[in-house]
Formats: sequence, structure tokens, C-alpha cells
Amino acid sequence: MFEKFRFLTSGESHGKCLTAIIEGLPSGLNIDVEFINSELKRRQQGYGRGGRMSIESDTVEITSGVRFGKTIGSPVTLVIYNKDYENWQKIMSIKPEDETDEKSFTAYRPGHADYAGSIKYNHKDLRNVLERSSARKTAIEVAVGAVAKLLLKHYGITCTSKILQIGSCKAEDEFRTEIDRAKELGDTLGGKFEITYVNLPVGLGSYVHWDRGLDGRIAQSVMSIPAVKSVSIGDGENACGISGKDFHDEIFIENGKITRKTNHAGGIEGGMTNGEELVVRAVMKPIPTLKTPLATVDSKNMTETTAHFERSDTCAVEACSVVAEARIACVLVNEIMLKYPADYIE
Ligand SMILES: Cc1cc2nc3c(=O)[nH]c(=O)nc-3n(C[C@H](O)[C@H](O)[C@H](O)COP(=O)(O)O)c2cc1C
Repeated sequence: MFEKFRFLTSGESHGKCLTAIIEGLPSGLNIDVEFINSELKRRQQGYGRGGRMSIESDTVEITSGVRFGKTIGSPVTLVIYNKDYENWQKIMSIKPEDETDEKSFTAYRPGHADYAGSIKYNHKDLRNVLERSSARKTAIEVAVGAVAKLLLKHYGITCTSKILQIGSCKAEDEFRTEIDRAKELGDTLGGKFEITYVNLPVGLGSYVHWDRGLDGRIAQSVMSIPAVKSVSIGDGENACGISGKDFHDEIFIENGKITRKTNHAGGIEGGMTNGEELVVRAVMKPIPTLKTPLATVDSKNMTETTAHFERSDTCAVEACSVVAEARIACVLVNEIMLKYPADYIE
């Protein structure tokens, strides 16, 4: 899918570091490391986060592709070191002689990748699944997204996000109380958020092939964030309850320019940006690791038990929205590089 701007990430939740290699950035882009770090900080914040976030204070190290503050056209490598690795060196060791079952577990955690992942990759120790399926990897994705945002900013494209719902609560001033209540009960909450990108050119994406539609590409990039269960563009989630007359955004002329009075389409028509604000909404499911653990099965002896608990968030919707901003930024940069290819910018 990523033809012009692509990246690969690696790293385990309690491994030494998370890494990303980004390819396709033009040379001459100012890389503001403080901005990348401020995005990483945003991902770590939000009410309802667990103990891990007080251990980590993520900062990025750039090890290639940037010289004197600017990209030079070669692949850009980003690294985030896991501070918690200090306590996990033996458990996460790459050496066969260090093998240990400390921190191993065999009871599948419902709502996680444990069951399917252990069958797919033939793991007896579910730690091997947890370590990469964990949302810890979204830290490095936020760093990549921050670099993408720097390029978008160069073209005047910016974004905002807001939380629309936490659990069943839609009143912003009650979000914290709702999270506190869930925490007291040993429970967790999901929620809904909205991301808006402004100042996009008309015609990013395409209608010519099924896999070129910008709505589809954005949906894939947001849906694959751990725990995201639905994605919609504009008023998409309500589209079935609104008649055609009220749903579609009529077109007018104001001072010789095309204008709209509504934006139910969320800035995409026919798989392409139409010049209106791009609005993406997504729903995150409740965090699946619970202090009052869920029923499950222990794969070791095939007996019923309760799920393994490891330090966990009560609610991570705010962090999830930061990850979604980053993923969308990467999709948009790819589209911009497809439409306006540039080896360098000035
Ligand atoms: C930013 C963020 C933080 C998360 N924190 C936790 C957590 O602390 N504990 C947990 O059990 N799940 C957490 N999750 C959710 C799991 O990663 C997710 O439910 C799991 O990977 C399965 O996701 P799936 O819906 O893709 O199957 C978090 C997700 C995100 C995006």
C-alpha cells in the first residue's frame, strides 16, 4: 500500500529498544527532535494510564538520514530505548544460555493476541506473543508519524483530535470520574475519538482502483491500531439514519470558489480528498487486561483458570487518538508524495 513513503518498525515491549526505518522522505526537511519528543509525550499521557507510563519517558534518537537538522534523502532511522529493559535484560535476553521461565505465562488473555498468536507462531510461552502484540510498539509509530507531520506542516497541513466518548459517557467534564469509577471496580473502559486534518489539497487518493481510495487506506491504518474496533469517515457511522437530502453536502459558489455548508462526507468523496476538512472517527474497545481477571484456559494443562494480569492501563483512548493521528499522517504523506513527487524540498 505504501508506495512512496514507507517504514518498518521492530522491537518488543520489554526489549532493549524500538526501531523504525523510514524511506521516501525528501531531502531538506527540517527535523525538529523536540517536536517528535513532544508527540511521544502526548502518547504517554491521558487520564487512566497504568504504571508502565511512569517508568518510560520516551525520547527519540535519530541514527541515520539526518545531518545538521535536515533530512539528506537517505533512510531515516529512529530509536526509542525502553527504560524498563534494565529490569528485563535476563528475561528478554537473545542468548540461549539465559533461557528462563521467569515471567512466562500460559493462560490466554481474552481480548489479546495470545491464543491465535501462540497457534500461528507455535509459542508455548505466551510472553513471546505479548511482547510484540503489545501496544508498546505504537511509541515508535508515533515517532514516525511525528516525522510525517513535519512534512505535512511544510505543506501547511495540520491536525487536531478530541475525545468524543469514554465508556458510555459523552460529557467531557465527567470523563475522569468515569475512569476513576471503572478503576475502583477493577474494570476498564474504551471510547471514541475524532481526528481532523485541515488544509489538504483536493484529489489525494483515487477512485480508479479499489485499493487506491483514501478512505480505505485511512480505515486500514487506524483499524489496525491495537484495540481499535471501528473507523468511520465524517458522519459515516450515522449515515444509515440520515436521508440523502440531509446527508450529502451540497455545493455552492462563494466569491468564485466552491464551498460547502456541511461536511457529512468528512472531506472524502469517491475515495479522494475534496478540499473540506478530513474527519476520521474511531472506537477503541475497553482495555482487555483486567484487575478482576476474565475467565480463560491455561494452555499448559488445558484447565479453566483466570487471565494473567500485568501492569495495565484502565483507559488509553487519549493515547490511542495520538497513535491514530500518527498513522493518518503517514497515509497522507504517502499520498502527497504520490501526487507531488519530490526528491528535495526548500
Ligand atoms: C495506546 C494503547 C495502550 C494500550 N494499553 C493497554 C494496556 O495497558 N493493557 C492492555 O491489556 N491493553 C492495552 N491496549 C490494548 C491492546 O494492545 C489490545 O487490546 C490488544 O493488542 C488486542 O487488540 P485487537 O483489538 O487488535 O485484537 C492498548 C492499546 C493502545 C492503542
